[in-house]
Amino acid sequence: MTPEPQAKANARPAAKPDITSRGCLRELVNAFYGQVQKDATIGFIFNEIAAVDWDHHLPKMVDFWEAILFRRGNYQGNPLIMHAALARRTPIGKEQFTQWLALFCATVDDLFAGPNATHIKNCARDIADVLHRRINPPPGAVPVVSAVPLASPDVGS
Ligand code: HEM
Repeated sequence: MTPEPQAKANARPAAKPDITSRGCLRELVNAFYGQVQKDATIGFIFNEIAAVDWDHHLPKMVDFWEAILFRRGNYQGNPLIMHAALARRTPIGKEQFTQWLALFCATVDDLFAGPNATHIKNCARDIADVLHRRINPPPGAVPVVSAVPLASPDVGS
C-alpha cells in the first residue's frame, strides 16, 4: 500500500536563512526600500524631497551594511552629514525614525532569521538613535545641522 502523504499539520515552515553574504544584503536593501517608497510616513522624503536616484542609492546602502555587518566593502560616506542636510528641508524626528526602523526590522524578519539578522536590527536601532539625537538636539543645544556647510553634500536636487 502506498504510504499516505505526510499530514499538512505536521509540515514545518522552511527555516529562514541568516544574512551571510553581500547577496543577502542586496535582497534586504531592495525589499526594504521597496517598502519605504510606498510608505505613507516617510516615502515622500525619498521620492519627492530628496528625489533619490535609486540606482545610486541601493548599491551604496548594500556597501554601508556590508561595512557594518562584515567589516568589508567600499562604503565611504557620512550618514550624519547627509541626514543633517536633509533635516534642513523636512522634519526627520521621532515619528519618521520610528517608522524607518519598524519597516527595516519587519523586512529583516520577513526574509531572515539568525544571529546576523538580530545584529543588523540592533545596529539599525543604534544608528537611528544616534542620527535622531544628533540632528534633533534638545532645546538650547547647538544642532549639528548648523555645522553643516550649506553647499555640501547634495541631498537630491
Ligand atoms: C526617517 C529616517 C530616514 C530617512 C528619511 C532617510 C533618508 C535618507 C535619504 C533621502 C538619503 C539620501 C539618498 C540619496 O539621495 O542618495 C539617505 C542616505 C543614507 N541613509 Fe538614510 N534615512 C533615514 C534613516 C536612516 C538610518 C536609520 C540609517 C542607518 C541605519 C540610514 C542610513 C543612510 C546611509 C548610510 C545613507 C547614505 C549616506 C551617504 O551618502 O553616504 N538612514 N537617507
